[in-house]
Amino acid sequence: MDIAATAVIGGSGLYALLTDAEEHTVETPYGPPSDAITVATVGDQRVAFLPRHGRDHRFPPHRIPYRANLFALKQLGVRQILAPCAVGGLRADLGPGTFVVPDQLIDRTSGRVQTFYDTGAVHVNFADPYCPVGRTTLLTAAESHGIAAVDGGTMVVVEGPRFSTRAESRAYTAMGGTVINMTGHPEAVLARELALCYSAIALVTDLDAGVEGDHGVTQEEVFRVFGENTEILRKMLLDAVSALPATRDCPCASSLDGIQVPDQP
Ligand code: ADE
Repeated sequence: MDIAATAVIGGSGLYALLTDAEEHTVETPYGPPSDAITVATVGDQRVAFLPRHGRDHRFPPHRIPYRANLFALKQLGVRQILAPCAVGGLRADLGPGTFVVPDQLIDRTSGRVQTFYDTGAVHVNFADPYCPVGRTTLLTAAESHGIAAVDGGTMVVVEGPRFSTRAESRAYTAMGGTVINMTGHPEAVLARELALCYSAIALVTDLDAGVEGDHGVTQEEVFRVFGENTEILRKMLLDAVSALPATRDCPCASSLDGIQVPDQP
């Protein structure tokens, strides 16, 4: 199906993106995705939008149907995905309101299914988890709105749904983490396993517990700061999806080349 070439997977607080959209209810071998997928024309691109947590935020990070979400987008013909998300800052200089376009990821989740391939030998290259073209496009879109997004950084993805202890948070900073969240994995690797381009734009909503000496992180501040930045994020994303090149000239498209891919269920 060639319904949309690009997609945005919206995070906490970004439950809708498109106007004049048609709705697609998609089924996959992995069950239904988080919600119906809306599709509309932006510039000269057909763009799909899927709210990661469902539009009523019914899926907490550890219960999101990640495989169904990625597979559903692939079924619609999507090739490039932009993934906004809320994150905690692991460094004092990355305060609330900062945008970061990460270039690395550390997986600290547990118990999540993180592959489509339970048979055969499918070992994708994940050295650089994010699409370089998507990253540049996001940075340029941010700049055009006067936002100096941080170019690069390591996103630590924890299982949640609780926030980290101060000791855990300090350990993540010591291990090289820049920002922290609960949804960045396995989304990124599942996109890679389907040879999709995937890049993230992270909005810092709080300083994580190890950085800020006083109260630790609260859910209220995460949702409030994300809400305060939703409008600018929406504008940046719409600019970025229109600016993505139609032809993919990045390694993501060939991530399955030379690999014997077994039939999916
Ligand atoms: N999402 C937003 N802020 C976070 C934090 N501090 N830890 C984990 N996930 C988050």
